Amino acid sequence: MNIVVLQGSPNRSGSTAILAENFERGAAEAGHRIQHIDVAAKNIRPCTGCVTCGYEGPCVIKDDNRQIREAVLGADMLVFATPLYYYGMSAQLKTVVDRFCAYNSSINRKHMKSALLAVAWNSDGWTFDALESHYQTLVRYLNFVDQGMVLGRGCGTPQMTAKTQYPASAYRLGRELR
Ligand SMILES: Cc1cc2nc3c(=O)[nH]c(=O)nc-3n(C[C@H](O)[C@H](O)[C@H](O)COP(=O)(O)O)c2cc1C
Repeated sequence: MNIVVLQGSPNRSGSTAILAENFERGAAEAGHRIQHIDVAAKNIRPCTGCVTCGYEGPCVIKDDNRQIREAVLGADMLVFATPLYYYGMSAQLKTVVDRFCAYNSSINRKHMKSALLAVAWNSDGWTFDALESHYQTLVRYLNFVDQGMVLGRGCGTPQMTAKTQYPASAYRLGRELR
């Protein structure tokens, strides 16, 4: 499979990156091709809601999202990797998701596989309730086929994350993909 990992943390060596790297190592060992995109390092402006695209492109905003559109439309699987920011995905990743607007129908038709990798400082049981619900709603709306989630509680720093089971869980998720 062609797998596109949308890495939504501005910290290139942070906890989100640790989960993404472990997932990617597992998926590469299983024979998949990985494209890792640091979305926070890209120049991607928020959707203005003009709907000139008619929900199926081209988008009037000319920025780095053109590369992301090309990658997503060439993918068999999308991986959303994000730190938990106020109980949702990062704004950097949400901006990319909102820009799906200009190729919404194309994404819908593809029935892509998907997964969610996320980290948070909090370790309460309810930490990921809102993000999990949002992700599951995207899966339903965009006709994704969910392959799993790694929800890293108590992953407030890379040092904390390295001591948890979540990097190994992310590796296994990648390694066991069919
Ligand atoms: C703007 C911001 C908002 C955050 N919001 C939450 C939150 O709602 N719940 C939580 O448990 N941790 C929250 N955190 C902590 C991060 O999710 C956590 O430190 C994570 O490990 C950061 O990942 P990174 O290393 O990839 O940047 C927040 C951090 C920042 C900077």
